[in-house]
Amino acid sequence: MSLTANGGGETWQFQPGGSVRGELRVPGDKSISHRAVMLGALAQGSTEIAGLLEGADVLATIEVFRRLGVTIEGPQYGRAVVHGVGRHGLREPEGVLDVGNSGTSMRLLCGLFAGLPFDLTLTGDESLRRRPMGRVTEPLTQMGAKITTAEGGLAPLHLAAGGELTGISYHMPLASAQVKSALLLAGMYARGRTCVTEPAPTRDHTERMLAGFGYSVQRHGDTVCLEGGGTLSATSIDVPSDISSAAFPMVAAAITPGSDLTLRHVGWNPTRTGVYEILRLMGAAIEVLATREVGGETVADLHIQHAPLRGIHIPEELVPLAIDEFPALFVAAACAQGETVLTGAAELRVKESDRIAVMAEALQSLGVSAEPQDDGVRIQGQPNLQGGRVNSYGDHRIAMAAAVASLRAEGPVTIADCANVATSYPGFISQMAEIGICGSSL
Ligand code: S3P
Repeated sequence: MSLTANGGGETWQFQPGGSVRGELRVPGDKSISHRAVMLGALAQGSTEIAGLLEGADVLATIEVFRRLGVTIEGPQYGRAVVHGVGRHGLREPEGVLDVGNSGTSMRLLCGLFAGLPFDLTLTGDESLRRRPMGRVTEPLTQMGAKITTAEGGLAPLHLAAGGELTGISYHMPLASAQVKSALLLAGMYARGRTCVTEPAPTRDHTERMLAGFGYSVQRHGDTVCLEGGGTLSATSIDVPSDISSAAFPMVAAAITPGSDLTLRHVGWNPTRTGVYEILRLMGAAIEVLATREVGGETVADLHIQHAPLRGIHIPEELVPLAIDEFPALFVAAACAQGETVLTGAAELRVKESDRIAVMAEALQSLGVSAEPQDDGVRIQGQPNLQGGRVNSYGDHRIAMAAAVASLRAEGPVTIADCANVATSYPGFISQMAEIGICGSSL
């Protein structure tokens, strides 16, 4: 993917220095929020959701289901009620369904809608229309779906009616929860059994939540299976805070002398805690407190204090478990003593931006030596960063990583194209201000 800006959103400026103190509950988990809306819409009965992320990506998923005839109350203060229509109750929408920047919406909905008895088209913004969709459309086509893509397997995706689906056993060539989820969701509409084998563990929210809605899912080692034709029964869902959003204040506290931060109610699903494992290997002082179960997911409180970090070679098996947290982790690496090496992470090149190229450029703008590699990066840690101007290329997590870097910068950090932070972390600037990270929109 090339380094193309996404249309010049907002510019932010963060002041250098400061320390990170206090307590925070970051917004709800994006992956769980999407799935709660999707399964709630297909269930029999009304599903009550608390802690829902009211970010643009989840709002896009909500809007799609409204267009397909589902009544959804809210969201307001994280509460929403989804009045499910059952698996066969969706009605044909008019026009194209635009999911904006949201890869999760597009890939999961492509699976969910592949077996519907009417045509529909899914599209997204410029960034999403550059991201690979063949990873879902190819196995769905093997199941019998009739999907046409733009050239190169890109969106818009046109799903034609009449694709009678049959279950398949699919060995994923890459570790992707989005692909696994798309196939399982399609599998509910397929004849027979659908099984997906993953080459490495990926987030398992879909499997957990299907079970929470009463839909039987079996796991044997690295393979997960379900039978088509079952029913989903409405339930209530309490969405934990998003560990991917918590990663920013977590790294902020870890790199800043004098910091003392508590993050409350953080989603602590074992398929998501790679960021913690990696920071711990780097020497971070993070205590995991009050681990508890909430509606099929684990949550915890985290207490983070500053400790000197050291560069490491990041174990490749942790990569899928921290896949969204690398922009934040690269900032930790830039502030560590010695070199950090990441390998086995080529997937970062096809996220909301090419996160290897874009983060290397961002760190270089702040005076850090960061050398992109095909499947990773080498970062030389240093005592202080320079102030400077960073282009986020419209990628929410690059913008937030640059904001965190300002804590160790010697001058202000100006960040271009920040509007998409609202996709995953609405209220980022004000929440950061509460704990001592000072920035504003210019
Ligand atoms: C997600 C899975 C991950 C992640 C994305 C959300 C999900 O993508 O990067 O932000 O909700 O299933 P891949 O499964 O493509 O790695």
